[in-house]
Amino acid sequence: MGTSIIIAIDGYSSSGKSSMARQLAAEIGYRYIDSGAMYRAVTLYAMRHNMINSDGSVVTELLIPALPSIHIDFSVNGDGTQSTMLNGENVEREIRSLDVSGHVSQVAAVPAVRHALVAMQKDMGTGKGIVMDGRDIGTTVFPEAEMKVFVTASPEERARRRLAELQAKGVEATYEEILENVTQRDHIDRTRAESPLRQADDAVLLDNTTMTLEQQNQFLLNLYNKITRK
Ligand code: CDP
Ligand code: CDP
Repeated sequence: MGTSIIIAIDGYSSSGKSSMARQLAAEIGYRYIDSGAMYRAVTLYAMRHNMINSDGSVVTELLIPALPSIHIDFSVNGDGTQSTMLNGENVEREIRSLDVSGHVSQVAAVPAVRHALVAMQKDMGTGKGIVMDGRDIGTTVFPEAEMKVFVTASPEERARRRLAELQAKGVEATYEEILENVTQRDHIDRTRAESPLRQADDAVLLDNTTMTLEQQNQFLLNLYNKITRK
């Protein structure tokens, strides 16, 4: 066993980041953190407390002062999966809804929200031995990460994947609304002023449009082995 490193997986919505990050973490015995779940949990809190206007804009005068009272952590289930906890409540299922997906990018564009969550994420990485996925992990949260991957796939393939995932969970959704949501979030995430979605200069690009889960997991493990063996 060599020394532990930090692994940052960033990229577009529904490209397969969390699947590959979770799998690699399990394989090498690292902690996995889904940073998107944290933005989703803050969004759910804002929705429940009427902090989002009907046009989707965020009532920052209410949300910013409430940030210190939003506590997010992850509990590990018996089968090894994780559940996102919002002030002690398991919100794992609710944060994956299309409703939350429809508001999360606007909440995530609020600089004070990002500052609060980035600070929490940096804390989680102090012991290294962590795989974190998101949008700005390699650029802002852990610019010093030893391994960085930037994942992309065609928007149509990403919408197909997300649709299949939601259908398997029994969530009603159409391909068109998912494609619209994915494209819309990509746009907001790429163009926001505060830590926008972009490939870090030292990140390895992975386009997995035509890759299976097994192929992408193997790609990631090979990269990890190469980086930690040198
Ligand atoms: O799983 P999916 O790719 O659909 O999204 P996610 O990773 O759960 O992230 C949801 C949203 O949170 C993204 O569309 C971003 O707006 C925001 N996010 C972010 O701004 N920064 C991160 N590090 C992670 C997520
Ligand atoms: O975390 P992110 O939003 O980037 O994507 P994900 O949640 O890991 O993957 C979205 C869905 O696509 C999941 O149901 C994956 O199983 C599926 N997927 C796939 O079928 N083939 C791939 N190469 C990558 C992901």
